[in-house]
Amino acid sequence: MTSQTQSADYGLDAPGIVRTMGTGGFLLIIAATLAPVGPALESAGLSMGISFLLSAIAMIASSRIGKLKARNSLLGALALKPADNILDVGCGRGLLLVGAALRATNGRAVGIDLWSQVDQLNNSKAATLRNAAAEGVSARVEVQDGDMRSLPFANSTFDAVVSSLAIHNLKTEADRDLAILEIVRVLKPGGKVGILDIANVGHYASILGSVGMQVTSGPRFSPWIFPPARVIIARKPPFII
Ligand SMILES: C[S@@+](CC[C@H](N)C(=O)[O-])C[C@H]1O[C@@H](n2cnc3c(N)ncnc32)[C@H](O)[C@@H]1O
Repeated sequence: MTSQTQSADYGLDAPGIVRTMGTGGFLLIIAATLAPVGPALESAGLSMGISFLLSAIAMIASSRIGKLKARNSLLGALALKPADNILDVGCGRGLLLVGAALRATNGRAVGIDLWSQVDQLNNSKAATLRNAAAEGVSARVEVQDGDMRSLPFANSTFDAVVSSLAIHNLKTEADRDLAILEIVRVLKPGGKVGILDIANVGHYASILGSVGMQVTSGPRFSPWIFPPARVIIARKPPFII
């Protein structure tokens, strides 16, 4: 019997929205084309249907292709060192987590998540560990259940903390601020943060600045993600504990 190596699958984000947009767009196009609604309604229905359908396709392309480009760009900007300890907050199926472990060849990458099925399709710790195995980094990857508003780590544990498309899922600004402050808390003095998100990124930058973090890059637009996303990179000054 031959053994097969599976390739990593980092999942589809917001599957419910993609499904609704795709199906809604398709039905609108059919209705506008076939129903006797008159030229004005027909053209409005057709444009709306096409834009829903294109948005669904762009979201699938973003999850399947764009996010891999965005991960390389974000991790490259952090200039990780081989022995770094890295935390991925809201790691999902391990996009940044595994990418970080590929770079930290003598280090460790830890992911925390609460595995929401709304935010990512077939989201689970087992899927993340399978992706780590598929990329050959299992020995350097650890995954924990956890909530980003209360990180289960001591102060100053990590050389770098990353987060991709996760913090906006917290519903209130107070909760999102808490998550940013938790990231700062678990970061070592001199450590770096990289955050990619589709909303609130300017606000994250101001919260980071308000506690003495130096925002070294961004918020800058990430061309690979749909809906449009922005990235910030920040550094914890060596004198802040
Ligand atoms: C859109 S997915 C992105 C996953 C991964 N970072 C990526 O880019 O592929 C958002 C992730 O945030 C996680 N998440 C949402 N709220 C969270 C919370 N309060 N604490 C930890 N993770 C959370 C979800 O379970 C999901 O895995």
